[in-house]
Amino acid sequence: MKQYSLLIDGEWLNTDEKIQVTDKYKQEPIAEVSKADKKLVLQAIDSAEDAFKNNTLSAYERYQILYKAANLLQEQKEEMAQIIMQEAGKPIKQSRGEVDRAVETLLVSAEEAKRITGEGVPVESAPGSENRLAFTIRVPVGIVAAISPFNFPLNLVAHKIAPALAAGNTVILKPASQTPISAIKLAEILQEAGLPAGMLHVLPGPGSTVGNVLMEDERIALYTFTGSTDVGLQFKQKTGLKKLILELGNNSPVIVDKDADLTKASKAIAAQSFAYAGQVCIAVQRVYLHKEIREEFLTKFLDEIKALNVGNPSDPTTDIGPMIDEKEAKRAEEWIQEAVRNGATIAYGGNREGALLEPTVLTNVSRNMKVVCEEIFAPVVTITEFENIDDCLIDVNQSKYGLQGAIFTNNINTAFYAAKHMEVGGMMVNDASSYRVDLMPYGGVKNSGSGKEGPKYTIKEMTNEKLIVLNLDF
Ligand code: SIN
Repeated sequence: MKQYSLLIDGEWLNTDEKIQVTDKYKQEPIAEVSKADKKLVLQAIDSAEDAFKNNTLSAYERYQILYKAANLLQEQKEEMAQIIMQEAGKPIKQSRGEVDRAVETLLVSAEEAKRITGEGVPVESAPGSENRLAFTIRVPVGIVAAISPFNFPLNLVAHKIAPALAAGNTVILKPASQTPISAIKLAEILQEAGLPAGMLHVLPGPGSTVGNVLMEDERIALYTFTGSTDVGLQFKQKTGLKKLILELGNNSPVIVDKDADLTKASKAIAAQSFAYAGQVCIAVQRVYLHKEIREEFLTKFLDEIKALNVGNPSDPTTDIGPMIDEKEAKRAEEWIQEAVRNGATIAYGGNREGALLEPTVLTNVSRNMKVVCEEIFAPVVTITEFENIDDCLIDVNQSKYGLQGAIFTNNINTAFYAAKHMEVGGMMVNDASSYRVDLMPYGGVKNSGSGKEGPKYTIKEMTNEKLIVLNLDF
C-alpha cells in the first residue's frame, strides 16, 4: 500500500499513527498517511513563525513559484485526477475538471501576487494637514491555518494556500482526513516549484487534535475553514478577535419563473444538482417552480435526470458516483424517508445501494422538512410551487443559509428584482446556483459564513491594510 508523509519545515516525516485512505467506490484501502499529533502541530507553528519572520520572497518571486506550480500541476493532471477520483469517489470527468480549476486558481493567485496594493489617502485635505502625504500598503497577516473539506480536495486546498502564499503569509494546512492525498501532492508540487522550507506545512489528522491545537494557538493570525456551520461556530467562539474566512452550510435555491426557457433551465439544473453526488456547497437543493410551468418543467427535468449515468467514477461516462461514505448516504436516505412520512412524494430516485444514492427529486415538500431547511449535501432536489415572485422570495429567504442562488427568467425586471432581494452572497441569472469560476468572489451571508474566496478577494482578507503618513514639514 502507498505511504504518504506529512510536511513540516520542508521535511517529509513519517509517524507511527496512520490515517487509512480508501477508494470511495471500491471501499478498499489505497494508502496510509502519517497522522500529526499535538507535538508536531506545535513544531509546525514554530517553523511557520520563523519562516514568516524571515520571509524575503518578493512579490515577483511569489508569482514565479505559483506560476511554476500551476504548470507542474498541469503536467501531472491525469495522475492528480486519478487520485481525486479514488480518494473522493468523484467521477473522473469531474475530477479532471477539478484539476483544471486548481491550475486556474494557482495562476490567478500568481497574477494577483503582483497586484497587491493600497491606496492614496488625501489627508492633506483635512484642516491643519496641508503638508502631509498619506497612503496605505497591504501587509501579510502572518500564519494562516487552513482547514479544508473532502469535496474539492485539490481546488479548495488551492483556494486556501495559493492566495495565502501570494500575499506573503506562511500556511499550516489540515486537509480532510478522507481525502488528504491530493493536498500532499500539491504541497510536493509547490516545493518542486521553489517554495522555501517553512512556508507551507501539511498536517493530516483529526479535528480533535490538529484542529483544536491550531484553534487554541495565539500565533495563528487567520483561519480559513470550509465545512459545517457547527464547526464554523466553534471557530468563531474559540478564536476571539482573529480573522476568519468561513465557508459553511448552504441549501441553494433556484427559481424558475413562468417565462423561462424551460429546456435550458432543466438541463442546467439537472447537471448542477447532482454533480459529485450533490456534495457541493452550491449544488441546487431547492427548486421553486411557477405553478403555470410546473408540469412542463418537471417532465423535461426528469428526462434530463434519466439520462445521467450513476455508478463507477472511473468510467468516463459516469455523472454521479458514490457519496463520501455509506453513513452519509444513509443519513440522506433517512432525511428523504422522514420527508415522505410527512407528506412528500418521491418523483424520482430515492433508492440507495451502499454509498450510492440515486439522484432524487421530492415534490409536495414543506418548508420545515430537513430536506428543505437543512443542507442535505447529497443528490437530492426538492420542488416547491409558487404563484408570485414576492411570495416566492419570502419563502426562499426563510433559509438560515445564503451562499449562492439563481433565477431562470426572460424578464429583465424580474431578474434584477430577484437578484436584489434574494439573501445570498452570489446570484446567477439564467444559470443554476453552482456556477463558479475561480477568479470570482465566493462566499455567503447568514449561516453560510463570512469572508470571500477567489484569489483577489482572499488576498484582501489575508492582508492587513497599514496606513503610512509622511509629515512633509519636518
Ligand atoms: C464548495 O463546495 O464550497 C465549492 C464549490 C466549487 O468550488 O465549485
